[in-house]
Amino acid sequence: MTLSPEPLPADIHAELTRHAGRLGTCAGRVRYWAVVTSTNDVAAGLADQGAADGTAVVADMQTAGRGRHGRSWHSPRGGGLYLSIVLDAADATHLTLMAGVAVAEAIRRATGLAVEIKWPNDIVSAAGGRWRKLAGILAEATRAGSTADRTVLGIGINLRPVDRPAELAAGATSLEEELSRPIDRALVLVECLASLASWRAALAGGGREAVLARWRELSPSCRGARVVWTADHECRGTTAGIDEHGALLVRLEEGHVERLVGGGVTWL
Ligand code: BTN
Repeated sequence: MTLSPEPLPADIHAELTRHAGRLGTCAGRVRYWAVVTSTNDVAAGLADQGAADGTAVVADMQTAGRGRHGRSWHSPRGGGLYLSIVLDAADATHLTLMAGVAVAEAIRRATGLAVEIKWPNDIVSAAGGRWRKLAGILAEATRAGSTADRTVLGIGINLRPVDRPAELAAGATSLEEELSRPIDRALVLVECLASLASWRAALAGGGREAVLARWRELSPSCRGARVVWTADHECRGTTAGIDEHGALLVRLEEGHVERLVGGGVTWL
C-alpha cells in the first residue's frame, strides 16, 4: 500500500493538538489511514523508510489485523481503536508489560472504567465476576534488514459494540458495552499516547521494578486465582504473581512453584 497518510479526522486532530505537550515523541507524529491491512504492517513499513521514534499509525479498520500466537484481531470499521507505534527499543518483554500498564491506566483515565490486566497481557473488564477482553497488545520486531533495535507496539482497544465472530462473542466486550454510554475515541487515543510517553520515560529511567509493581497491582488475578494447564499431563495450581520476565508463577497443590510463559492456561 502507499505510505502517504490521509488527513487526521477532526476529532483526533483537535485532541492531539490540545494534549501535544503530554505525548512525548508521538507529538506531531500520528499518521492516519481509514483502512489498512494491519497498523503494525504500516508502522513497520514506515520504520523501514526511516520513520522517527514515536511515529504512530491509527486506522478506522484493519482487513488483516492480527493478535498474539498468529490469531486474527477482529477490526471492523469504527469498532475499535487500532494503533501501532514505532519505538527505538528492542526489549519486547518489558515494552509489552509497560504497554499493558500504560493502556490500562489510559482507559481508566479516559473513561473511569476500572479495567484490569489479565496475564499474559490482556486488558479486561471483570464486571459481574467474569473477565471479558477489552484490549490487546502485540509487540513485534521491525522487519529483518531494517534498522536494528526497533519495535512496533500494536494496541487494539474495543470501543463499540460490533457483530463478533461466534468464538469471540462470550469472551470479548467493548468500552461502550461496559459503560452503556458513548466513548470519545480521540480521548482514549491521546490518553494512551500520553500514558505510554510517561511509562516509557519511567522504563528508560531504570523503572522496570515500578512497571512490574504497577502491573501486579492492576492484575488482581495474577495472585490467588485457580488455573489449569497442560504440560505432559494436566496441572492445576494457584497463581502467585509474575516474575521479572513476565512469566506467570503458579503454586502447585504440592507446594512447588511452576513458571509459565506465553499463555496457554485456563482460568477456573
Ligand atoms: C492480542 O492478541 O491480544 C493482541 C492484539 C493486538 C491487536 C492490535 S490492533 C492494532 C495492531 N495491529 C494489528 O494487526 N494488531 C495490533
